[in-house]
Amino acid sequence: MARIFSGIQPTGIATLGNYLGALRNWVALQQGADECIYCLVDLHAITTFQDPATLREQTYAMAALLLACGIDPERSVLFHQSAVSAHARLAWIFNCVARMGWLKRMTQFKDKAGKNQEEVSTGLFVYPNLMAADIHAYHATKVPVGDDQLQHIELANDIAERFNRDFGVNFFPRIEPIVLKETARVMSLRDGNKKMSKSDTSDQSRINMTDDADTIAQKIRKAKTDPEPLPDNLAALAERPEARNLLGIFAAVSGESQETILARFAGSGFGPFKSALTEALVAHVEPIGQRTRDYLTDKAELNRILQVGTIKAAAIAEPITKEAERIVGFLPGAA
Ligand code: TYM
Repeated sequence: MARIFSGIQPTGIATLGNYLGALRNWVALQQGADECIYCLVDLHAITTFQDPATLREQTYAMAALLLACGIDPERSVLFHQSAVSAHARLAWIFNCVARMGWLKRMTQFKDKAGKNQEEVSTGLFVYPNLMAADIHAYHATKVPVGDDQLQHIELANDIAERFNRDFGVNFFPRIEPIVLKETARVMSLRDGNKKMSKSDTSDQSRINMTDDADTIAQKIRKAKTDPEPLPDNLAALAERPEARNLLGIFAAVSGESQETILARFAGSGFGPFKSALTEALVAHVEPIGQRTRDYLTDKAELNRILQVGTIKAAAIAEPITKEAERIVGFLPGAA
């Protein structure tokens, strides 16, 4: 049995990108033999300023959404990161293992900090070390993510290797990402070359997993396309990123292959294609939004689920982190 770990930031509402790139795979992986651990990464969230009351609400909302997507707290460990101190303790050790040059290469930091590098928090810079600690604190070896996280996973492997070498141990294992090829990067509805993101300033750029049918229909109607009719083969979409993105979304939510869908709409404009896409999306997304709202009516139950998850998570992460602390030379603390 292997251990699977993944996380999502409780900032904003999860998008269709989060869902198709990661969350639906988290749900599917529960059916296998591996142990699944899923984390609401609130320590990561505060690398950019979060209003405290909003952060609390968004953490509940993300927990509710994960349950609504099908994360089963009996089968998987579901918890919030700040509740398990092992994450922060191991991250500190990794801050002292990772090299400045490695972190300076992280494209996500460059994207997020932009020209503002002197003003962003130091947490944003060392964020990948915390992500490495999230995974290694559980000795997890498989990490289901979208492709924007692959560079961070490579870094987590570099950190593990360096730790093992510096201390002459074979303690942290190698990690493998698990990526859903077809939806590894769902793109913005406004720009087919930009990732769909919950932090994009334009709500029109994304489908939120809690959008209602009318909002989904309106966003798809307005989604950017091009003037050409749809072709009869995938290769012809190579230079048409918006069309390719919508087709990828359509295939993922309908379960049909991209080829089958193209064959149905080849030669026509985007009107009928968008209507059918809207129908498939609404059928898939709306029930998840409804279930999310249902879960959110019972915060006591959400607290209970997260507390159970926290106890299970800490039971795994605590001994591994204590051993890492022993390896680096810390004296034991209280039992
Ligand atoms: P976050 O919160 O940005 O995103 C959560 C997951 O959704 C995926 N994703 C996408 N996939 C396809 N298309 C998109 N447009 C899209 N947008 C987001 C992300 O790849 C991710 O899998 N650093 C992580 C959270 C994290 C983590 C971890 C993940 C913290 N610790 C340990 C794995 C293991 C993040 O910010 O994800």
